[in-house]
Amino acid sequence: MHNSHSENLLVHFRRIECLRQEASAFPSIDLNQRQLCDLELLLNRAFYPLSGYMGQKDYESVLTSMRLTDGTVWPVPICLDVTQKAADTLKHGTNLALRDEEGFLLAILKVSETWQHDKPTYARAVYGTDDPEAHPGVRKHYQEMQDWFVAGSIEGLHLPLHYDFAELRTTPAETHRIFAQRGWRKVAGFQTEEHLHCAHREMVLQAAREAGANLFIQPVVGRAGPEDLDHFTLVRCYQEFIKTFPRNMIQLGLIPLEKRLAGPRQALLEAIVRRNYGCTHFMVKDDHGDPFAGNNHERFYSPGASQELIQSLEQDVDIRMIPLQNMVYVEEKAQYFPVDQVQENMQVKEISSAELKRRLEYDLDIPEWFSFPGVVQELKKAYPPRHRQGFTVFITGLSGSGKSTLAKVLYVRFMEMRTRPVTLLDGDIVRKNLSSELTFSKDHRNLNVQRIGFVASEITKNRGIAICAPIAPYNESRHTVREMISPYGGFVEIFMSTPLEICEQRDRKGIYAKARAGIIKGVTGIDDPYEAPQSPELSIDTTRLTPTEAAQEVFLFLEEQGYIR
Ligand code: PPS
Repeated sequence: MHNSHSENLLVHFRRIECLRQEASAFPSIDLNQRQLCDLELLLNRAFYPLSGYMGQKDYESVLTSMRLTDGTVWPVPICLDVTQKAADTLKHGTNLALRDEEGFLLAILKVSETWQHDKPTYARAVYGTDDPEAHPGVRKHYQEMQDWFVAGSIEGLHLPLHYDFAELRTTPAETHRIFAQRGWRKVAGFQTEEHLHCAHREMVLQAAREAGANLFIQPVVGRAGPEDLDHFTLVRCYQEFIKTFPRNMIQLGLIPLEKRLAGPRQALLEAIVRRNYGCTHFMVKDDHGDPFAGNNHERFYSPGASQELIQSLEQDVDIRMIPLQNMVYVEEKAQYFPVDQVQENMQVKEISSAELKRRLEYDLDIPEWFSFPGVVQELKKAYPPRHRQGFTVFITGLSGSGKSTLAKVLYVRFMEMRTRPVTLLDGDIVRKNLSSELTFSKDHRNLNVQRIGFVASEITKNRGIAICAPIAPYNESRHTVREMISPYGGFVEIFMSTPLEICEQRDRKGIYAKARAGIIKGVTGIDDPYEAPQSPELSIDTTRLTPTEAAQEVFLFLEEQGYIR
């Protein structure tokens, strides 16, 4: 049995093999990324004093009074949700194996009870509304949570595995030891998930100085997967950011905290967790935890609600709240000021995140008052200007409309430029190599086009040029492909609008003649639909254009958009 006050809930490594063998006979569930976040914070004791998933009495007490039944302040249920089917197999005393998404055994849950919870009741207590339209946190709760909860104490074998930035994922005990080694008596925790620049440095530095505290910057890296490019950049930017601080006053750590978006209750949970990492203070903005913080939407919670809640419980929780104020740059003073100290005659300068993105995209100046050279360098690496991004030229149109010819000319011309690797995904090439088993039914055509999109998105992500030339007759799959590729680089849809009569006159493969003769069925344009694109980047009718002239139109467009120069 565990000492419920030990520094983590992991068994001694000598016992792991034995438990693993026993566990092969236990029922087991694979946790998703959201659930893995909670499990990690239970195992590493960031959720101290919890030593497992809450039972129904604690759950209800947390909802109604923000305390566990023993009086400990706790704002949000930490419960493990399961399907009814899974819950039916569990009873008091069952050992349930908790595994990650790959089935790797992480912990054993000794089940004490299961119960069905009411989502609207949960939502009203935790979020302050049960309307999923009004609150993204409620929406997420309704969509993602299973209806049953299972409670019990846990015995851990492993913390959830992370292969990225392992050295930054310090546990509460390790973090606390680092603070002690450095002689830090006061430590102010700062939670963030956004990119940090000069204004943030001024903000946290000023707040920490006022409290006489050192800084623990702890970004939330909940569900980032390998597909999330921004995750790696973000963490590298944090590493650069902390280099700009005075020596020995700042520490960086990552925390896998699930974003519940529950405003004040979320902020209080974050404060409790920071206390468990060894912080004495926690920095809180007036819209901390608001689901609409950081965008132009009206806030859901009243300003300052999170600050007030934490402040009112400082004694119980044993952490001090430090209010944070946004800072703005005043040019004539060459200095940052808290927003409430800006006088009317002062000119403030700001760069929004959209503007920053635009400047990166077009290789424009990012001033030193705004960000740090190290951070900007990381951003430039991750978000290169357009002329160094990858792009996809997606040519759609009827058979005989000139797709393949245009694709071939573009291929040769891009190769000649030698600025990026080029891949040609012509209809025939794909049908032969990627989609040889597919027919020309609607579903198969869509699947074919999606496969092309997948390959093109990988090429675009790695900064190459993909030229695709399928018929792609349906809006649906063309739209999907656009969505797959746009986050990684350029997407240029070219509609070959050459009329059917011309395509049919050309009939290089004799496909139209066969269709007219009824030898083959389901030919696009004859007895199968072609949905013309509504807003392609370019429309090209090759009736009276040579292939070189058509290619030139594409080049002019790419130049104008900044992808080539
Ligand atoms: S799709 O709809 O995007 O999946 O089509 P795609 O992969 O580009 O394949 C089109 C080529 O296959 C030949 N072919 C047909 N086309 C249309 N309809 C039917 N039923 C059909 N059967 C075979 C046709 O020659 C196309 O070649 P291209 O290069 O477009 O002329």
